Amino acid sequence: MQSNRRTFIKSLSAASALIATQGLAKPFGVAPAYIKNLKKISPNDKIRFATIGMGIQGNFDTRAALRSPDVELVAVADLYDGRLEHAKTAYGKDKELFTTRDYREILTRPDIDAVLVVTPDHWHDHITIAALKAGKNVYCEKPMVQHLSEGKAVIDAWKKSGKTMQVGSQRISSAAFQEAKRLVEAGEIGQINYIESNNDRFNAMGAWQYSIPPDASTQTLDWDRFLGDAPKKAFDPKRFFRWRNYRDYGTGVAGDLFVHLITGVHFVTNTLGPTRIFSSGNLAYWKDGRDVPDVMSCIMDYPKTDQHEAFQMVLRVNFANAGKINDVTRIIGNEGQIEFSENNLIMSKKKLPTAPGYGGYDSFFTFTEPVQQEFVKQYDAQYPPETRKAEPVKEVRFEAPKDDDPHAKHFANFFENVRQGSQGTVEDPVFGFRAAAPVLACNESYFEQKVIHWDPVTMTQKNPTTTKVTPKKPIASSKSSGKRS
Ligand SMILES: NC(=O)c1ccc[n+]([C@@H]2O[C@H](COP(=O)([O-])OP(=O)(O)OC[C@H]3O[C@@H](n4cnc5c(N)ncnc54)[C@H](O)[C@@H]3O)[C@@H](O)[C@H]2O)c1
Repeated sequence: MQSNRRTFIKSLSAASALIATQGLAKPFGVAPAYIKNLKKISPNDKIRFATIGMGIQGNFDTRAALRSPDVELVAVADLYDGRLEHAKTAYGKDKELFTTRDYREILTRPDIDAVLVVTPDHWHDHITIAALKAGKNVYCEKPMVQHLSEGKAVIDAWKKSGKTMQVGSQRISSAAFQEAKRLVEAGEIGQINYIESNNDRFNAMGAWQYSIPPDASTQTLDWDRFLGDAPKKAFDPKRFFRWRNYRDYGTGVAGDLFVHLITGVHFVTNTLGPTRIFSSGNLAYWKDGRDVPDVMSCIMDYPKTDQHEAFQMVLRVNFANAGKINDVTRIIGNEGQIEFSENNLIMSKKKLPTAPGYGGYDSFFTFTEPVQQEFVKQYDAQYPPETRKAEPVKEVRFEAPKDDDPHAKHFANFFENVRQGSQGTVEDPVFGFRAAAPVLACNESYFEQKVIHWDPVTMTQKNPTTTKVTPKKPIASSKSSGKRS
């Protein structure tokens, strides 16, 4: 395998020829035959991967991936030359790092086993599907897709490919979430009835006003390719470098932040998802041209399943919270709660006695004396002393090991599955879509001002909006950009 690879690297020009001859200029048109390959990678082989989208998270993901043993970064695709140059300095010091503006040049290389898809959200499905069809294992950032209508195509491509796929909401690989799952499954907090989580901020970076490089221009970046299947627009560096602020490319606070909260909850509770989703919000403060809200709350109803009772989940993001910020995630049951704090968790257990008690703020004192006496007689007969004691409130703190590294563990889980030729990652695309769909429904609820009805089992929306959401068209081939830096 290694020597084949080396031979291949030496003949990169052959790869370019392949692009021209295999019709990859139309990557989303006629589907090429998929490559079904569950071949294991021998434990002695390095897994060679490429990062597609080497922006902020692309760098964090790449570094986390490289903390796994026996993996190697061999190529990078990005649309801004400055980031390709930066990647060469950061990751290619002692070797030739292949860089390109055209991710398709990566997909045609047989020496690459896996790709990390770390582009803006509107590119996730296209690149993921193309990569799976090209026989690559895929680590795709959250949210797995940008629109509800895109999830099933990714799942189908994954199933057909037989390749490994992991979606990148890495927090579920933390020791705290694993402990929470264990506690909930052991029934420590009884039946869950309510989950709340918020993620507030009050600073420009937190509100996605990321720095724009002064050399940004249509010469230094590929604006047309960035637009992809989004509406045509004149070059605007704000849209390129702060894409989260625009519905055309991102998924707003729901897709960016709720998705992490929901992924965690789905992991801990083994739920398949909510059936009713409603959200509401406002653009309250960051009026910088963005078309997504900066304050959003959402209510979701999770129905009873064989894994859990019915519960409600309430999520909030407020980017304009100038008050005291106290971000919290609480899973509340009828015998206690789990509260996450940073990488740790606190479980408090509280069980009510069987006897309800009487007196205090109660109707008892409004009864006549003889009625009160009769009430006490009946109460004493019904509730012997042992039924009147509440169990003492217990608090259990779990501190994650100091070296707990959820991001590296999430990648390790991906690479282990790649090595075994297995599709059994902790966050496979079925799980990934079940977590993404409710947050995409939040956006639809906000913009369409309606309750979204969702079937979490079949993963279909029961009341799709027909007026605005049009089926996805293949992206027209980009001009023969393929510029290599
Ligand atoms: N898991 C997490 O905790 C986490 C954290 C942050 C971001 N993310 C996700 O990571 C993704 C990227 O976010 P970011 O903050 O790094 O954005 P970013 O803007 O910093 O980087 C995105 C990069 O993708 C490149 N790009 C765009 N289209 C491309 C294409 N077709 N081919 C190749 N490169 C392309 C851009 O040039 C840019 O450099 C998003 O989906 C985001 O939701 C996940």
